Amino acid sequence: MRLSLRFVLPLLLVLAGIAYAVAPLIDKMTLNWFVRDLDLRATLVVNTIQEPLLEQLEAGNKTKIGEFFNRITQDERFFAVGYCAGPNAKILASRWLPTEIICADLERWKTPTNHLLASPQGPLHVAVKPMVSEAAPEGELVLLHDMSFITRRSEETKRYLFYVFMALAGVVSLVTVIVAQLSWRGWMTGMRALLRGEGLLRQPESPPPPSLPGFKPIARDLQRLISELESETRARDESQLTWTAETLRTILHGELRGEDVIVVSNREPYIHQRRGERIEVQRPASGLVTALEPIMRACSGTWIAHGSGSADRDVVDKNDRVAVPPDKPVYSIRRVWLTPEEEDGYYYGFANEGLWPLCHIAHVRPIFRSSDWAQYVAVNRKFAKAVVSEAKTKNPIVLVQDYHFALLPKMIHDELPDATIISFWHIPWPNPESFAICPWREEILAGMLGSSILGFHTQSHCNNFVDTVDRFLEARVDRESFNVSFGGKLSAVRRYPISIAWPPDAELLQKSVPDCRNHIRQLNDLPPEHKLGIGVDRLDYTKGILERFRAIERLLELNPNWIGRFTFVQIAAPTRSGIDEYQHHEGQVRTLATRINARFERHGPPPILLKIEQHAPPQVYEYFRAADLCFVSSLHDGMNLVAKEFAAARDDERGVLVLSEFTGAARELPEALIVNPYDADQCAAALHLALSMPDIEQRDRMRLMRGLVAEFNVFRWAGRMLLDAATQRRRSRLTDKPDTLT
Ligand code: G6P
Repeated sequence: MRLSLRFVLPLLLVLAGIAYAVAPLIDKMTLNWFVRDLDLRATLVVNTIQEPLLEQLEAGNKTKIGEFFNRITQDERFFAVGYCAGPNAKILASRWLPTEIICADLERWKTPTNHLLASPQGPLHVAVKPMVSEAAPEGELVLLHDMSFITRRSEETKRYLFYVFMALAGVVSLVTVIVAQLSWRGWMTGMRALLRGEGLLRQPESPPPPSLPGFKPIARDLQRLISELESETRARDESQLTWTAETLRTILHGELRGEDVIVVSNREPYIHQRRGERIEVQRPASGLVTALEPIMRACSGTWIAHGSGSADRDVVDKNDRVAVPPDKPVYSIRRVWLTPEEEDGYYYGFANEGLWPLCHIAHVRPIFRSSDWAQYVAVNRKFAKAVVSEAKTKNPIVLVQDYHFALLPKMIHDELPDATIISFWHIPWPNPESFAICPWREEILAGMLGSSILGFHTQSHCNNFVDTVDRFLEARVDRESFNVSFGGKLSAVRRYPISIAWPPDAELLQKSVPDCRNHIRQLNDLPPEHKLGIGVDRLDYTKGILERFRAIERLLELNPNWIGRFTFVQIAAPTRSGIDEYQHHEGQVRTLATRINARFERHGPPPILLKIEQHAPPQVYEYFRAADLCFVSSLHDGMNLVAKEFAAARDDERGVLVLSEFTGAARELPEALIVNPYDADQCAAALHLALSMPDIEQRDRMRLMRGLVAEFNVFRWAGRMLLDAATQRRRSRLTDKPDTLT
């Protein structure tokens, strides 16, 4: 509509202008025609009246001549007639002959340009014609025509001219608008399909875009241009940008200026716990929280999470919000309260007894209860409501975190269709056969596909997800662009390997490596030159802690010279202890450590020091810096940030990382000693290699790993996702709302 007005109004104005400019020309032209006609008419009249006039003249009856003239002027066009016998004669005239017409002055009316005489009745045309008769050799007839009819006609002509131009303008505008609308729609449909990468992929519900063969080459060029620009930007990002918190902040302020950023996760970044009279603030052991905190600090958004601390309710305002970090608040947590039944069904039940083992394939059977599923659905809905109530605009950027909220993206999309929803699945995605055992597999997939962008740590998780969708949903999967179209919504499936902040907090590296080595050895009653290994995990069966201990036992069996000279410190943060499997696992870990220690007890310090308790980051970093090796033996892990933290902690470029091939981190850190945690002999050999590795080799490996973590840090992880979100938003502004472009 706006397009039409913007186009038609100027067109009408231009045509009206033309009509206005052309009218006087046409006026002049028609006047000339009329003058010529009147002149001809005068000649005709003279020829006609000459005979009777001569008779009257001969008769010499002036009265009769006057009557004769008056009769002639009864014709409505004739105004007056006169006769001059010669220049000195008195004019014989009909009534109304103007006094300006005298015989002595007839010459002036004979010039070709002077035929008009202004009179109170209007303009008059004066024609002077000689009599062609020997009886009146100097006689001349003067005929005056009333020209007011010409003025009337000229006015009418102008009016018609105006109407004609207006009608013409109307027709031209109408035709132009119809043509423009048709080609615009075609263009826009083409552009939309193109920008969505649907040159290859069309949504099942949407009608096929009109085929515009003429536009195809342009569309192809445009598509190429867009991907070139994108890859150029990407290449520039990858090679030139140093990703820091500041870079992330700049991106947020530049690319996403003023955007409303909301993070949703189950675990909150700060937990308020009651300790007697005091309220203590705890940081949870969660890689997810570690990774997201820098984003929130950079964008001052809102983080919606389950309020799980015993003093959480005591510190929130009336909207259930609390500003954090407590020492220097920059963003707010909006806490969502769950009943014990909700927490049991949604968190312990469906999320951690169902989805967690389902996705990790760690040989623990998933448990699927329909009552847990019902709570999972209800809690997802509760969080969706919280998102809607926290959104300051109708199109916020919502970062949905992890397997607790598989249904949330669709629920948010249903309420806020313009929101950009980036979901990140922090754990692995299994192959379709493994995922197939979930009774609500379709609902979960459909829920996740409410996302605009769906992120996983590795390409193989992306592949597994896309394969699963392909197997179980009526969706279109484009394997070239990795876009999935389902229910009229397009989701981009992308790999974003998560990482840690770089450089690490200076406070964590404050104590020198020799001081850390000495202090930790003293603390654990170990001799100064004792070799030390470290493992830091939540006490979770997916972390392969049992396999790790078996590998240590095997090391001591295969290389007995390490007995009494090597100790492995396992820091294990208690987690999800309400779940039977976790209690069982804790029991197994304790028993195995005790058994192995008992076996080698006689030879000095125990081979395993098991510390089942929370450790704050400074303590963990001190262990990292004190150790000779770090062993990460997850049976399956989305990424595993401990591996990256160990590299970050070793600014002395020493220490060896032994890393399970089943972690996302193994794809990025090939300089680690990569092992299969199920293969105890192989792991034992790797441990031996690590303990005997020359300093130079340690340095070379560590340098490469540190370089990678520095470059691919968490700011890049977040920045990349947010940049992609910004691109999507720009695209949807371009493609979904053609009106805004008119
Ligand atoms: C994994 C999950 C996170 C979770 C963390 C700690 O890293 O991906 O979503 O927060 O474990 O588990 P918890 O159940 O204590 O939050």
